[in-house]
This record gives sequence, structure tokens and C-alpha cells, in this order.
Amino acid sequence: MIRKISSVDSQLLAEIHKRCFDDGWDAKTFADMLSKNVFFGFLDLEKTARGFIVGKMVMEEIEIITFCVLPEFRNRGLGKMLINEVDKHAQSNCVEKIFLEVAENNAVAKKIYENSGYAEISRRREYYCMKEGGVDALVMQKIIF
Ligand SMILES: CC(C)(COP(=O)(O)OP(=O)(O)OC[C@H]1O[C@@H](n2cnc3c(N)ncnc32)[C@H](O)[C@@H]1OP(=O)(O)O)[C@@H](O)C(=O)NCCC(=O)NCCS
Repeated sequence: MIRKISSVDSQLLAEIHKRCFDDGWDAKTFADMLSKNVFFGFLDLEKTARGFIVGKMVMEEIEIITFCVLPEFRNRGLGKMLINEVDKHAQSNCVEKIFLEVAENNAVAKKIYENSGYAEISRRREYYCMKEGGVDALVMQKIIF
């Protein structure tokens, strides 16, 4: 089941985020973000929460802010489902384009975005500081209308 998220989910989102990213965000970060009405998101939930996506919608554009699925639930299409949910949100809000940033070495996320119709539009050189050194960020965009 996929449902909308709100600031009451902040603690849960932080727990999932910490298990998916080395620099996971805390509950206050999610609470602050989701208290502003430009932010929205969706949570995948069965017996327990499995993953979520947060976006920011301003005028006719959406930016995907963060997106993750817990390691034990990966490779079952949940990531794709969450990305599709943002597409549906974009369509029902007359959004023209969706964009995001992804580390060049994040092959799994890149594959989901490409499969879903996102294309690279620019690159930020050595934007991420990772243990392997500076990694480029790809800015990817999908045109809806
Ligand atoms: C990115 C993430 C959300 C994907 O979630 P998921 O539920 O596993 O995604 P899906 O199952 O829908 O799709 C995974 C796709 O990657 C592919 N894949 C799996 N391992 C891969 C690899 N090593 N290299 C390339 N593609 C790979 C799968 O085959 C699948 O593609 P397909 O549907 O064409 O077969 C999850 O891996 C995650 O939380 N990663 C850590 C956080 C992160 O990187 N978030 C994105 C930041 S931009």
C-alpha cells in the first residue's frame, strides 16, 4: 500500500533514511520540511514501512528531494512504484517537469530514473564527497507536459 506522508511520520522516515544513507537525516529535518506545504511524499507500507519518497512542488516543477527503500525490500519494484507515484502526483497537479540529482556512481537509482523517462540535462562536477573521492552529480529531468 502506498499512502501520503505528513510531518507526523517524521520519526519513521528518519529511521528508514538512516538505514539507507550514510548521512541519514534526523526526524527534525523531516518535520521541518513536511511542515511546509510545498513538500509532499509517499510511503510504501505493508506490515511495516518499506520505503518512501519526498518531493518539493513549486509552480509547475517538482524536485525529488530524497528517495529510499530499506535494503531487505530492494529489487522488488518498490522504488519504481514510488517514482510512479510522483508521476501521478505531477499529472494531477499539472506539473510540467520533474527533476532530481543523482550521484553518477549510483547505478541502481540511475537505472530506475532512466527506465522511468528521466534524461541527464547537466552535471555538477565532484558534487558529492564520498570515500572514493569527489563524485559528479547528474541532474536529470523528465518532461510531463
Ligand atoms: C534506489 C533505491 C530506492 C531502489 O529501490 P528498489 O526498490 O530496489 O528499486 P526497484 O526494485 O524498483 O528497481 C531496481 C532496479 O535496479 C536494477 N538493479 C539492481 N541492481 C543493480 C545494479 N547493481 N546495477 C544496475 N542496476 C541494478 C534492478 O534490476 C531494477 O531494474 P529493473 O526494474 O529494470 O529490473 C534503493 O536501492 C535505495 O534505497 N538505495 C539507497 C538510497 C538511494 O540511493 N536513493 C536514491 C538517491 S538518488
